[in-house]
Amino acid sequence: KTVEIIGAPCAFGQRKLGVNMGPNAMRYAGLVERIEGTELTVEDKGNIASPAIDMKKYRGEQEGGLRNLEEVTEFCETLCDEVDQTIQSGKFPLVIGGDHSIAMGTIAGVKRHYDNLGVIWYDAHGDLNIADSSPSGNIHGMPLRALIGEGHPDLVNIGGYQNKVKTENIVLIGMRDLDAGEKKYIREAGIKTYTMADIDKLGMQKVIDETIDYLKGTDGVHLSLDVDALDPVETPGTGTCVPGGITYRESHLAMEMLHDANIITSMELVEVNPLIDINNKTADQAVGLLGSFFGETLL
Ligand code: ARG
Ligand code: MN
Ligand code: MN
Ligand code: MN
Repeated sequence: KTVEIIGAPCAFGQRKLGVNMGPNAMRYAGLVERIEGTELTVEDKGNIASPAIDMKKYRGEQEGGLRNLEEVTEFCETLCDEVDQTIQSGKFPLVIGGDHSIAMGTIAGVKRHYDNLGVIWYDAHGDLNIADSSPSGNIHGMPLRALIGEGHPDLVNIGGYQNKVKTENIVLIGMRDLDAGEKKYIREAGIKTYTMADIDKLGMQKVIDETIDYLKGTDGVHLSLDVDALDPVETPGTGTCVPGGITYRESHLAMEMLHDANIITSMELVEVNPLIDINNKTADQAVGLLGSFFGETLL
């Protein structure tokens, strides 16, 4: 099996420049060598080209509640085609971000190959906003909702088609900062959700066991790992930190269990921002988790 790394240095989905350096921060932390340390072959496709950033526009006021809509859309269209090609060539796509808006590109490319795709969204946030419910206008708070088929048509139609993910095929893990509109939506749509309280009560082992069981009717599962799911004491280098997160050790357990279950068919790791990190610690931890995900064992 070959893992193909696709660098997705997009920072347009939020306002903290530096997350576009996430892919190289993870490479510097030994990403390729770490995955090669398991039995896997790794090919690094490098980074997707991103337009020059016009700082005035980047930090400026949002238009219609969606900051940098055109840039995000264009980036995701390119990413979609890259991911599609990777899967076509029989390789496992590992997309490294970049902010979480890139999930709209990754999953648009992935879903072309599956009829009934499952998605695990490992995150402090639901990323289920639409422009009207968003407190920020930041598109990285909207990708999952757009993938379901709701929101701005440019986002909903990335890849040239819509309705990529069914609400009943989603599992949210690590939730602890949901906006009012998101809470209402999750309840109404009945999305399977593990909040931090649920993780505390059940333990991560049970959460992942139940998740695997819940998604057993799907024909592929995408893992979307936002590093802010983890506790900011351990992973401070990310733009929207929320205290009280999943520990590094619990996350290793989750990755090891998902490896052993052999159900994940594509993955992305997003929101590592080395400019607000401490000595690239967050990228180091992200790479450590990827090691477990790809089959590293302690003994
Ligand atoms: N819910 C907040 C918003 O819509 C935060 C979203 C954070 N998303 C992320 N991918 N880190 O702005
Ligand atoms: Mn998040
Ligand atoms: Mn996110
Ligand atoms: Mn193995």
